[in-house]
Amino acid sequence: MRPKNVNRPIFLWGFMGCGKSSFGRRLAQCWDLPFYETDEMIERLVGNSVSQIFTNLGEDTFRKYEYEILHSLELSSPSIVATGGGMPCFNDNAEWMRTNGYTIYLSLSARELTDRLKRSHTTRPLLQKKRGEELFQYITELLATRETIYRRAHLSLDALHASPEVLEQIFNLGLIA
Ligand code: S3P
Repeated sequence: MRPKNVNRPIFLWGFMGCGKSSFGRRLAQCWDLPFYETDEMIERLVGNSVSQIFTNLGEDTFRKYEYEILHSLELSSPSIVATGGGMPCFNDNAEWMRTNGYTIYLSLSARELTDRLKRSHTTRPLLQKKRGEELFQYITELLATRETIYRRAHLSLDALHASPEVLEQIFNLGLIA
């Protein structure tokens, strides 16, 4: 059941493949809240896939759409928002989300992420053409630069143990405010 003190959007942060969307969907269903996925919102806005946007319009344009979508969200009521892995790392997005909602980082190690992402090179533009050791190196380096930002979230949860029940306890105990 949704804790009574959840009155703003909950923004899920984390590296590609950490499970923001599946955890977000589960949480939204358990707590009976609307669920938003920023990548999906951008795809609907532009009428094209994230990969196509990167290829045809470039990453900078994608980051502008991310900013636009973030600022279009309804803030006066609670919801669950699964953000793209780069969302908190560009513009003032991280601070904006911290100010306007609860931010939760779902953490996983570079090794765990690599194992999960091995099969995703066709859909994730940043990982295209990277395989094996090269993929692991890339993830290790990008995670190292991003993790300092992700750790600014109100709460960090090990993605392997994140559940609606755990989060319910955290909110009920007032450990996130
Ligand atoms: C990105 C992560 C992707 C998507 C885009 C860029 C990133 O979202 O927004 O490919 O910069 O880490 P997921 O984290 O849902 O894969």
